[in-house]
Formats: sequence, structure tokens, C-alpha cells
Amino acid sequence: MTTTTPTTTPTGVRAGRRVSALICAVAVGAATACTPSEGAVAPSQVAAVAPASPGAGASKGTTGAPGIGDPDFPGDGNGGYDVQHYDLRLSYDPSSRKLAGSATIEAKAAQDLTSFDLDLHGLTVSRVTVDGGAASFSRSQDELVIQPGRRISNGDRFAVTIDYSGVPEPMRDSANLGEYGFISTADGAFVTCEPNGAKTWFPSNDHPSDKATYDFQITVPEGLTAIANGEMAGTPQTKGGKTTFVWREKHPMASYLATMTTGKFQVRTGTSDKGLPIYVAVADSFRGSLDQLLTQTGKITDYWSTVFGPYPFSSTGGVIDDYAAGYALENQTKPIYGGFSPEPDIIAHELAHQWFGDSLSIGRWRDLWLNEGFATYAEWLWAEHTGQYTADSAFRRYYANAGDAMWAYPPGAARADDLFSAAVYTRGAMTLHALRREIGDDKFFPLIRAWTDAHRYGNVTTQEFIALAERVSGKNLKGLFDAWLFQPKRPAPIT
Ligand code: TRP
Ligand code: ZN
Repeated sequence: MTTTTPTTTPTGVRAGRRVSALICAVAVGAATACTPSEGAVAPSQVAAVAPASPGAGASKGTTGAPGIGDPDFPGDGNGGYDVQHYDLRLSYDPSSRKLAGSATIEAKAAQDLTSFDLDLHGLTVSRVTVDGGAASFSRSQDELVIQPGRRISNGDRFAVTIDYSGVPEPMRDSANLGEYGFISTADGAFVTCEPNGAKTWFPSNDHPSDKATYDFQITVPEGLTAIANGEMAGTPQTKGGKTTFVWREKHPMASYLATMTTGKFQVRTGTSDKGLPIYVAVADSFRGSLDQLLTQTGKITDYWSTVFGPYPFSSTGGVIDDYAAGYALENQTKPIYGGFSPEPDIIAHELAHQWFGDSLSIGRWRDLWLNEGFATYAEWLWAEHTGQYTADSAFRRYYANAGDAMWAYPPGAARADDLFSAAVYTRGAMTLHALRREIGDDKFFPLIRAWTDAHRYGNVTTQEFIALAERVSGKNLKGLFDAWLFQPKRPAPIT
């Protein structure tokens, strides 16, 4: 790594796929070993498919659809209702690997419903009630189909409670990310669920287009720590050799950002210079990184709030587990680092996601560059801020490699079979840099703040970003975005 420009990826550890894609791009250069990212695709239209949204899955009469309407992930999420809140009461025993729980889901019907689905992978359901009355249910692959005792009318609020237990199995998707979801470890669990692994540990509308608030009550053997999102409500209570941790995330959250990471942890709490509460936890073997994680997390969160706009949540933090995933995930309020002590650029990436991904969430997975392009660009901004290298030098270095596989992969339409491609990260970041050069810093940074302000806690689309960029800059930017996001070739040089 040189001091002026990144030599490979700025991180190299975030996601296993990303590393191999980059090694591919850098070492192989011409098209050979990088097949998943390389076949040219038809350019997507700038106004493509409507985003998924709660209740948007095509309905059949009064049957809620088994998918929420994401064209690339047709089985993910469900139609016919919009979740408001999850109340998860869970207990986990690492020695038997058994999870037992009761999940209460408060939802609002978006159509009349005599039947609706939740997503659940494995596990055994023992009982389902709707508004306190017994409901019948059946299982079909990862769908839990529920028939409430009486019809739910469009607009009704209802509460469904699912009692369940079993040994959670993570998702295994070799085309994408390997293993994700609830991953058991020797002393607990490492829980990272992007894109659709929430269903490995709780019944959910498992798609980012249906965000909700969360209460967690997690019971583990005494001596272990259970870490979820948001803030702790009261001190953990120990009784009969078990400790219960109560966490509450009061801001809307996408299901893949929920966690119940558990194990032997060293915990520290503090406050950032700007007064934001910080919670950090590290596995014993990372004890030496605890103070640094606390300090860097506070410092970087505070800095991003001056660049991206007010921090959207009530606390910040981070977790280093000893499970050697080799990647990190931007779990809301507490990114998790899997088996490594993160360099500041990775912390900067994951904390940037608190704005881009967590507060503003995509409505369909093909728009993933709105998360990863922004978080990668944040790494370049961090480097610029700390005097390591400029975003412009990073851009130029990547641009110079005409044989990079990312030129064949337009990042404006992330592919279901290669979602976390280097193209989505790096070419996505380059798109933002091309935009910044085109409209100037005096429009670019206000645009970013207007973006986070206009859509806080909501769902966003690429089209909305393009429209806002045109509005803030007063320029027609369709050609720029089309070339950078939607064409399967290297765009013309920027000026
Ligand atoms: N979003 C993560 C990042 O870029 C990478 C990632 C994708 C991931 N899918 C994951 C991490 C699943 C853990 C689990 O920071
Ligand atoms: Zn990321």
C-alpha cells in the first residue's frame, strides 16, 4: 500500500467475494477467471422496475403474496402487510446450539387477508396466534404460511406471535457470500444477515423495503454477553445461571441489520466528543483493540455527522467477534467485524453505512450501489480527510485499469448472483466521484446532506438520487448516470 493511492482494495477484508473479485481484476486483468462478473448484460433502462414496497407483492384475492416484489429476489419478504414492530424474546444455549423464542410482530394489513406469509428458515414452530387467537400454519421451504382464525381487513393492525425453537442453520449461498445469517460459534453466535439471513433466527418480512422498530430480550448462560441493536434498557438481570439482556432499536431498521451476537466479550461504553453514547464489545482475543475501537468509532461517527448530516440513531458502536469471517457488516448502531481488528478505513466504511444503507435503505437489491458505492466513497473521503490520498487519486488509479472486470458490470443493476461485486463497490464510488467533479464540491456535499435528510429512516431508489442530484445542481445528469451506472463499458474520462 502506497501512501498516496490505494494499491489494491482499500480494505481487502470486508467481504470475501470482494477480495477475490479484486484479486481477479488486478492480477488477471483480461477476462479469464472472473466469469461471474464479466458477461456483458443488456443495459438497464434508467427507469426500470418499480421498487419493492410493503404490501406490493402481487396479491391473489385475500392471500398475501409469498414475496414482497423484488424482481431479483422473488421469494424474499412477503406481500399484504407492513410490519411496524418486532418484539423478539429469545434464549440461546451455545452448548446445545439451541435457540428458543417467541416473536411478536405488529403489522398493518395492506389488503384483506385470510392468509399471509412470514419468512423463516428451518427451526420448528410450535404455536402461532393472531391477536391472541389460535391460528393455523404450515411450512413450505422458507415460507411460514399463517391462517388467522378470522379475516384481517385492509388497514387493520394485527399482532402475530410465533413460538419456535431449534438449531439455527445459516444460509449457504456459494454464488454470493458463502455463509451468513445466524452462525454459531464456540461460545455463542455471530449474526450477520445481509441480504436475507434474518429468517435464520426470527420469523420476519425479510426484505429491506419493510423496515420496523425492534425490542430484543435475549437470555444466555451467565458470563456471556448478548449484543443487539440500539440501546440497552436497564442492566442485565441474572437468575438461575442465566442472564437476560434487553435491547431496543427505536428507529426503523431493515431485517438484515438486526443482530443477536453472543459470546464472551469485553465491553466498554463511552460518549463521543459530540455527546453520542458509544457501546463497543470485543472477543477476549481482541482485548487489545477495545480502547481503540471505542475512540475511533466515536471520532469517525462524529466526523461523518459533519459531512453526511446528523447521525440518525441514538448510539454508535462496534463489535469485534473472534469468528474469522474476514468481513464486516454495518449492523444498525453496531457494525460487526468478523475476526479482525479493523483499520480506520473499514470503520469509516461501516459507519458511513449508518447513513447509507441503514437510515436510507434500498427498496430492492439491484440498487445496492446506493449502499456500497457510498460507503466505499466514504473510505476515499476518510483518506482525503486524514491526508492519506485523495478521492481523485483513487478514482484515477481505478480508471486507468481499462481491463478491470467492473467495466463489464454496470453497478446500477446489482446482480442477484453476484450482488457484492467489486463493481458495485468501486464503480459505484467512482460514479459519485464523477458526479462530484461534474457539479463541484459546493453542490455535491449539500446534495449528500439533502439526500440523507429527505429520506431519513426510509427507502430509496437510484431514480430518486438522480432526480435530487439534478434538482440540487440544476444540471441534466442523465448521461453521466447512464454511463456510470447502466452501460457495460468503461465511461469516457471525466474532466
Ligand atoms: N455490507 C458488507 C460491507 O460491505 C458486506 C457484506 C455483504 C456482508 N453481505 C454480508 C457482511 C453478509 C456480512 C455478512 O461492509
Ligand atoms: Zn459496505
